[in-house]
Amino acid sequence: MKFKDLGLSNTAEMLKKAESEKYAVPGYNFNNLEQLQAIIKACADTRSPVILQVSRGARNYVGATLLSAMAGGATKYANDLGMKAPIALHLDHGENFLICKECIDSGFSSVMIDGSALPLEENIKLTKQVVDYAKKFDVSVEGELGALKGIEDDLNIAKSVYTNPDDVIKFVTATGVDSLAISIGTSHGAYKFKSESDMLRFDILDEIAARLPGFPLVLHGASSVPQNLVEQINKFGGKISGAIGIPEDQLIKAVEKNVCKINVDSDSRLAFTAAVRKFLIESPDAFDPRGYLGAARDEMIELYKHKNTKVLKSSNRY
Ligand code: G3H
Ligand code: 13P
Ligand code: ZN
Repeated sequence: MKFKDLGLSNTAEMLKKAESEKYAVPGYNFNNLEQLQAIIKACADTRSPVILQVSRGARNYVGATLLSAMAGGATKYANDLGMKAPIALHLDHGENFLICKECIDSGFSSVMIDGSALPLEENIKLTKQVVDYAKKFDVSVEGELGALKGIEDDLNIAKSVYTNPDDVIKFVTATGVDSLAISIGTSHGAYKFKSESDMLRFDILDEIAARLPGFPLVLHGASSVPQNLVEQINKFGGKISGAIGIPEDQLIKAVEKNVCKINVDSDSRLAFTAAVRKFLIESPDAFDPRGYLGAARDEMIELYKHKNTKVLKSSNRY
């Protein structure tokens, strides 16, 4: 299955346009129908491009074949909504060559090979192997240098390892990647900082951007953990305390530099859970899943629209 037959685009043109116009393309993770519908509806309404992201957890939960078929269906749904902006299907944190190859072969238009835990030379070798394969099919490749703290699939990484700006030119040149994920203090999950005064390392971002002018950089772990959603979850029987994300003004600042893709997963989970908890507590007699899943979908649509228009500034681009 080729990605173009599914109505998908690779990320090359998308990221180039984002870089030149100084906005970020959203990389939104999805695991089910409602998340996918919400992403497409929000991006169609805001005229934003989007990168649909599939993690290892999503592959285990749904399966790569069904996920790529869902993304193919999503491009038709987007078309019905009159969406003109491109849609990519991206493997998030691909762990080895074989998984990247399987995804490329099953219709993904973009893959991330995450060799960030490897020594530099081994990361380069693995990433280059994926790039060489992907290029034959016009599929884009994202690499990573530096490691993010937090929960990423089954791994819980205790400490950030910031990207070393001295490595970036060598990595990008030797591998031929289309974009580079960097570590400047963001982290995966809903517990990113001890306090909101913790700052991203903009000094490192500046050094990287100075070495790679015009090259698309990617920020993982960029959920903002909206406090109204945390409060709603806790109010309706949940127990998540101390959840803190990246303040929106810091993301806006990163987007004004070379950050052209921003990954968000946790915020969608929070919106989903907050809406379901509220709905079920307020309607104890409800048992049609379309009621509470519909409420979750509406909450996620609002979340994605807000991000596209106010934070990533990816709205009204197509
Ligand atoms: O990379 C980060 C993802 O948010 C991990 O998601 O729990 O679906 O594997 P997952
Ligand atoms: P968050 O956990 O901050 O949403 O990050 C998601 C991510 O980076 C997916 O690759
Ligand atoms: Zn990530």
